[in-house]
Amino acid sequence: MKVAVVMGGYSDESVISLRSGKLVLSNLDKSKYEAFEVHILKDGWHVVADDKKYPINKADFSVDMDGRHIRFDVAVNTIHGTPGEDGHMQAYWELLGLPYSGCSFYQSALTFNKRDTLSVLSKFGIPRAKSIYLSKGQAVSVDEIVAQLGLPFFVKPNQSGSSLGVSKVNDPADFDKALAFAFAEDNDILIESNLKGTEVSVGVLHYRGQTTVLGLTEIVSQNDFFDYEAKYEGKSEEITPARLDRETERKVRETAAKAYEALGMRGFSRSDFIVMDGVPHFIEMNTNPGLSPQSIFPQQAAHAGIAFSDLLDNEIALALE
Ligand code: DAL
Ligand code: MG
Repeated sequence: MKVAVVMGGYSDESVISLRSGKLVLSNLDKSKYEAFEVHILKDGWHVVADDKKYPINKADFSVDMDGRHIRFDVAVNTIHGTPGEDGHMQAYWELLGLPYSGCSFYQSALTFNKRDTLSVLSKFGIPRAKSIYLSKGQAVSVDEIVAQLGLPFFVKPNQSGSSLGVSKVNDPADFDKALAFAFAEDNDILIESNLKGTEVSVGVLHYRGQTTVLGLTEIVSQNDFFDYEAKYEGKSEEITPARLDRETERKVRETAAKAYEALGMRGFSRSDFIVMDGVPHFIEMNTNPGLSPQSIFPQQAAHAGIAFSDLLDNEIALALE
């Protein structure tokens, strides 16, 4: 079976995605799959092999390599951010009839949009931070924000990942800087109240026929919050399993599974929560969670005693269903 392991993307997360893709490539069972490294980057779409680049034919996602015309049987998608986590690639593969890993184009687009995800989940009674939505050019007063959300508060791009463009505002004087930082990533932003408690990241997937919580990882950031540096440059401690009492752990598992199902997920996901006063508050859903060696999802698989190659078999089987 010919598997396109698709990585890269057009956002600043592409560097992380290349790491995720390589971990997938090295864990795919070579006796079952012929795997191809496919880069979707701003400078073009290519299969990369032995330091050579072969352009992808965008009309049908095929490639000609050394006299072979290759059509893939399935795409394993490890792009973070646009165009692979927001539904664009998924819609394209859907039109081509090419099976792909992860959730559908609609679910991808929905969950990449933080505001819309929160709005769906609030209908299912899942607690969250208080938030204000703002578009570029809209007038806003920091005093009003502080009156509604208190201090500190977070400013986030509505659609982005890896905490790019996110700031924690402790002092109203820093608000304008936070706005500019977030608007550099997206035209719409979310301003959210600070939730005080334990941050927990939860891998959830459809495994062996059912929604399965892979594991709970507690995040202890050395920085003011779990920002890009804390995520990828070792400035955080990630503790699996999270140090929660049994009842709280049960609630987090139950809420994460409920969010996964409410959002119509398929395949790998990682949702992030802050447990405040014993109640898990939903932060966000990641439908293409980081799979780099530093990322949480592979750590949870290892801790659960599930070989990553087994999870990839499962992911491919789901895509082909
Ligand atoms: N967006 C990053 C890659 C994550 O969720 O792990
Ligand atoms: Mg994210």
